[in-house]
Amino acid sequence: QKETTIISVKSASDAPTINRNIYGHFAEHLGRSVYGGFFVGDTSKIPNTKGVRNDIIKALKDLKIPNLRWPGGCFADTYHWKDGIGPKEQRTTIVNQWWGGVTEDNSFGTHDFLNMCELLGAEPYLSGNVGSGTVQELSDWIQYTNFAGKSPMSDLRKKNGRTEPWKVTYWGIGNEAWGCGGNMTADYYAGEYRKYATFMSDWGNKEGLIRIASGSNSSDYNWTETLMKNIPLNLLGGIGVHHYSVINWDKKGDAVDYTEEQYFKTMKEALKMEELVTKHSAIMDKYDPKKKVAMIVDEWGGWYDVEKGTNPGFLYQQNTLRDAVLAGATLNIFNNHADRVRMANLAQCVNVLQAVILTDKAKMILTPTYHVMQLYSVHQDAKLLPINFQSPLYSYNGETLPAISASASKDKNGLVHISLVNIDSKNSNKVEIDTTELGVKNFSGKIITSKKIQDYNSFENPGKIVPVAFKDFENKKGKLEITIPPFSVIVVEGK
Ligand code: AHR
Repeated sequence: QKETTIISVKSASDAPTINRNIYGHFAEHLGRSVYGGFFVGDTSKIPNTKGVRNDIIKALKDLKIPNLRWPGGCFADTYHWKDGIGPKEQRTTIVNQWWGGVTEDNSFGTHDFLNMCELLGAEPYLSGNVGSGTVQELSDWIQYTNFAGKSPMSDLRKKNGRTEPWKVTYWGIGNEAWGCGGNMTADYYAGEYRKYATFMSDWGNKEGLIRIASGSNSSDYNWTETLMKNIPLNLLGGIGVHHYSVINWDKKGDAVDYTEEQYFKTMKEALKMEELVTKHSAIMDKYDPKKKVAMIVDEWGGWYDVEKGTNPGFLYQQNTLRDAVLAGATLNIFNNHADRVRMANLAQCVNVLQAVILTDKAKMILTPTYHVMQLYSVHQDAKLLPINFQSPLYSYNGETLPAISASASKDKNGLVHISLVNIDSKNSNKVEIDTTELGVKNFSGKIITSKKIQDYNSFENPGKIVPVAFKDFENKKGKLEITIPPFSVIVVEGK
């Protein structure tokens, strides 16, 4: 019999609000993400609004998607936005050099994306082209999307059918500048960034612009240090971090058919996010103690081998309970670091990597990761309740990882939500949470789990993994005793 873990959850007046943008998504021109995913074209038999699938729009609205990053990824540094505006039949093509070498017809461009974001109620996050673009091109893009007055770019926008500007606040200055974005050194990129950022006027956008630097590759702390040291803080709204949970880049392993060893290694990579966020934050604190600059984890998630028989450049993979616990544990980390982590983008939204939605022609399924993000959406814009505990261990082959991860928040209606993940593949874990100071008395819960950790939602059986009512807890005079089953994600609500 394992000991009960005592979890302390307290209200703290100086605790941060969990920025809803932590629950953001990413749509790159990659495989079947945009074409054949979000976008089927307005002549498709699949019900759509201006070419965007209605079932996807509904699912993402239900998810309360707060923001969507586009058009890449690596693709962003090859993309020239002017190729994607104006009459569709006159648009030039682009060969997607990073992803499968396919020729795209540019039928999904700036108007399509920004109008889709309006339908979704999501903030657009546009990634500018630094690698193969120009300062003028990026500056023009902002004028095109944001300027209400008379100018060459706003006239062009109006000519293309859109009178009012969209007012885009979030702008990435390149992507993975250390790699596919130009193989730059941190020093060189910092110089490029300063130049681009200087000419990125907000063109009257009331919210201003949040300029986001292409961040480090996982634990490249020197990258963050160099950028923080060399970029004036008034030009820096956010700094990115990319981290994928990959076992081995040359041998990533199957997305569904994996062993416990592979599962353990994936979890080890996922939980590394705690160390990454802590260490990058410490560097940022040195130069920005008032935490003005946001940390933006604009690519994260599990990355496995592509599904057999699919194009290796399309990064299509299934999504099992491994992904659900990975998402739950990662989002707990972001919530608990909400003072600095103010945006994150799961890679990617539809049909690519750790997707929340998979499609097969007219069919669409919601993955276990979707259901975790939906359960966790209660944390969006809620006040963090700091949490403290010593996790029991999940052991495999002589190595250990913390088995439990948790975060908690109180929303503006006074509802308390505690999200709990047990990554242990065999053992349940018992926790006790003292809720007496939280001002709530009645509890209910939902759980995501299944018989086997390799279980997933298929097109034949799309409802295999869905959240169900969770009752395995007792409230003993404000002490909440919960037994968390192996590989499960639970959200408890107190009112
Ligand atoms: O998300 C897939 C790719 O991963 C992105 O294009 C790139 O930024 C990262 O390396």
